[in-house]
Amino acid sequence: MSRIAYVNGSYGAHNLAAVHIEDRGFQFADGVYEVWAVRAGALQDHALHMKRLRRSLRELDIPMRLTERALDVILDEVVRRNRVQEGMVYLQITRGVAPRDHAWDVDIEPSIVVTAKSVDPAIGHKKAKLGVEIRTITDIRWQRCDIKSISLLPNVLAKQKAREQGAYEAWFVDDKGFVTEGSSTNAWIVTKDKVLVTRALGSDILGGVTRLTLLGIAEQHQLKIEERSFTVAEAQNATEAFISAATTLAMPVIAIDGVQVGDGRPGALTTSLRQAYLDHGAKQADRE
Ligand code: PDD
Repeated sequence: MSRIAYVNGSYGAHNLAAVHIEDRGFQFADGVYEVWAVRAGALQDHALHMKRLRRSLRELDIPMRLTERALDVILDEVVRRNRVQEGMVYLQITRGVAPRDHAWDVDIEPSIVVTAKSVDPAIGHKKAKLGVEIRTITDIRWQRCDIKSISLLPNVLAKQKAREQGAYEAWFVDDKGFVTEGSSTNAWIVTKDKVLVTRALGSDILGGVTRLTLLGIAEQHQLKIEERSFTVAEAQNATEAFISAATTLAMPVIAIDGVQVGDGRPGALTTSLRQAYLDHGAKQADRE
């Protein structure tokens, strides 16, 4: 089956889908994006993703010309046309096409692109059974990491470096030695006292939707939670560590810079949080 993409008002063949060479997303990374997990054909944590999208657009002064209802129809239609039951949806909104100039004209029409793809959930579950490794790297990103901007050069360089060194994800470390987040995930540890720790929200990390949902689940399960910074050494000495994102869910970390975390196997709390997140997703799919 051929894939279908949405580009500025039309649905067409994914392999031919294109934006103009003077799209400001292409020239300046002047745009934002969202990634949803799709389970049983339904977009997960949809309202939270839409809330973050609105915020990202507002922070960059990119107008939203479509109503949310219209955008919902497009997202659902791309999922449907690609027959995605389990997988992900990608939405990108850039400031639009204009003759290259750093400053912009407020009348530019934003460009909207939506794609969707199927991903076999068994791949993630298999990875979660084994756990993944992390490499740390100095955080050289800008001071507005809370905006889900498509300007991801430090993130892609970090991920690539981690992969070249045999790790799955990179964790950024700030100038005080504290972990900020992963290149495309939020970072978590579980202390010896079973306290769940993740960095507090601020302009130095993205407010992950999965992070927020997992915090809610942890609260419901009466787990102890601390939203605070932790160092690489604290993470290496933690009982458990994991990463979270729409695409990875809660994914156990078994080593950081070659140092084993806990007993070097996926932690019990991480595994139960992952399961609880899956149950939460299944409930959402039932409501669709
Ligand atoms: N990444 N931090 C960063 C830098 C991210 O890029 C992401 C998501 C997250 C987790 O956010 P969420 O839980 O809302 O997925 C944290 C997406 C998946 C991506 O870039 O593909």
